[in-house]
Amino acid sequence: LDPKFIRNFSIVAHIDHGKSTLADQLLLQSGAITQREFREQLLDDMDLERERGITIKARAVAINYELDGQSYELNLIDTPGHVDFHYEVSRSLAACEGAILLVDATQGVQAQTVANAYLAIAGDLAIVPVLNKIDMQAARPDEIREEIMATLGIDPDDVLAISAKTGLGVPDVFRAIIDRVPSPSGSPTAPLRALIFDSKFDDYQGVIIYVRVVDGVLRVGQKVRLMAGGTEHEVIGLGRFRPHSVACDELGVGQVGYVHANIKKLADVNIGDTLTESPRGAQVALPGYQEPVPVVFCGLFPATHNQFEDLRTALQKLALNDSSFSFEPETSDALGFGFRCGFLGMLHMEIVQQRLERESNLALVQTAPNVTYEILDKRGETTHVSNPTRIPDAGDIEEFREPVAKVSFILPSDSIGAIMQLCEDRRGTYLKTEYMTPTRAILTYELPLAEMIYDLYDKLKSATRGYGTMDYELIGYRASDLCRLDILVAGSKVDALSIVVHRAHADRRGRKLVRKLRAEIDRHQFEVAIQAAIGTRVVARETISALRKNVTAKCYGGDISRKRKLLEKQKEGKKRMKQIGNVEISQEAFLSVLDDG
Ligand code: GTP
Repeated sequence: LDPKFIRNFSIVAHIDHGKSTLADQLLLQSGAITQREFREQLLDDMDLERERGITIKARAVAINYELDGQSYELNLIDTPGHVDFHYEVSRSLAACEGAILLVDATQGVQAQTVANAYLAIAGDLAIVPVLNKIDMQAARPDEIREEIMATLGIDPDDVLAISAKTGLGVPDVFRAIIDRVPSPSGSPTAPLRALIFDSKFDDYQGVIIYVRVVDGVLRVGQKVRLMAGGTEHEVIGLGRFRPHSVACDELGVGQVGYVHANIKKLADVNIGDTLTESPRGAQVALPGYQEPVPVVFCGLFPATHNQFEDLRTALQKLALNDSSFSFEPETSDALGFGFRCGFLGMLHMEIVQQRLERESNLALVQTAPNVTYEILDKRGETTHVSNPTRIPDAGDIEEFREPVAKVSFILPSDSIGAIMQLCEDRRGTYLKTEYMTPTRAILTYELPLAEMIYDLYDKLKSATRGYGTMDYELIGYRASDLCRLDILVAGSKVDALSIVVHRAHADRRGRKLVRKLRAEIDRHQFEVAIQAAIGTRVVARETISALRKNVTAKCYGGDISRKRKLLEKQKEGKKRMKQIGNVEISQEAFLSVLDDG
């Protein structure tokens, strides 16, 4: 196929602005799917994704489209829209020459609209701006065009208006892709170079890699080499998703498809690596991607005994299809054997935990999330610590540094004050306010990442009645007056409850924490003291008084079945209990440290 008739593009959008619906509508109007299939949202095929309405893993679909008697191959590379998945967006964009920037005409420009548009601009992509949902009463196309102009400098006349749901205006999108997105350039006779932009693990076929051919031809039977990985393989199958997989014999310049090459482990494939042929290999690899780095960590422990190996198996299975998630064994005095897990952000963490519980049927105890700290010790050595229990004693620390993010909020102007207050309370540094229109503004702050991972997003949503959105970018580590706050229950330190706090907030956090724990920990047969301490200095203390009656006492002895039910219920609740010395602490108690304030 002549690359002149190929277009490779992505759709980027804020969550819920209609990316999946438009992808499906493009498939529908090109005849690739039926009206019935259209309703079933083809591109998001993971259960959890559909439930949460978030596209997590990038995918590619080849669409045949005829325009003015000429047939074209349009490759749509799907991207996730959420703040935690920036790196997946940029790696999908690297395989494209253009991007549809989709904006909900009722909601307007939102935080991920701007963030994703910048990623596309940085990748030198042609941008096709499109307003969606113009079938809705609440659509405000003129105003939103103005917002797009103000934030991204895009000429309002270039902005298309469509309804991905009804299909109105969608033929114009096809025309714009063909007219405005450049066709791929590359040499068909040069040694093969194909960019690996995604991979997945299939139980039957092993590793499947998704590639975009830049130079040369990829053929079934060919010997290929992963340029960074160094391993050699034979291509045993090639194909494209249309959206169902269709095998083919070769992929030429500009084409996008999948490859089976008998690769056993996902870990053998680096996303961003270049596939070349062997022995006539290319000299220079294509520009790769940066490895995604986990920024939020928490401990995950099985709630019941003897499930450590089950948890390991479940984590390994999950990691097969999610290379951005990391885990390593950790031991806690309080919780026993478990794992310290790393995530790209809070949402990523939530998704992983839910998937684990659902797919493996394990009840988990999760410790409060934390960020990675950089510590310069008295000997002049710098280390990164992502587990609060491993933070050295204050006396050994020369400088305690924490990650800082630049955060942009897009807000109704009347909630600027509330959000500024929220940021000030979280040790934020004000940078600027810019107005898109008189009623909508972009507020920019620098915030310690640790202050964002608790409840910032929820607070933003409630302070703006749902109209505020945010996006962030890590900008580096900064020295801060931090310390480790420990929790003692009945005199013993509960390592899993240690947190890192700013010294100025330590007393308040300590008091709040012990008060919360007091409410969460059930009364025992004896008195239980709960203390918060920095080093040896106790900053707060609460006491849970001893219990006098046992649970079944309420049942006036007579009704055996009722008594049994109650005991059973209690056992059920215990699944999520952990024994600390002779005190039982529930999962809620561990999570109560989450609730900052
Ligand atoms: P993520 O996968 O979460 O990023 O969402 P998305 O951007 O893919 O959005 P999706 O296509 O799931 O659409 C979000 C909601 O908007 C769904 O309920 C759609 O039915 C609805 N929607 C999408 N396009 C239109 C449209 O043109 N008109 C109307 N009325 N609703 C639409």
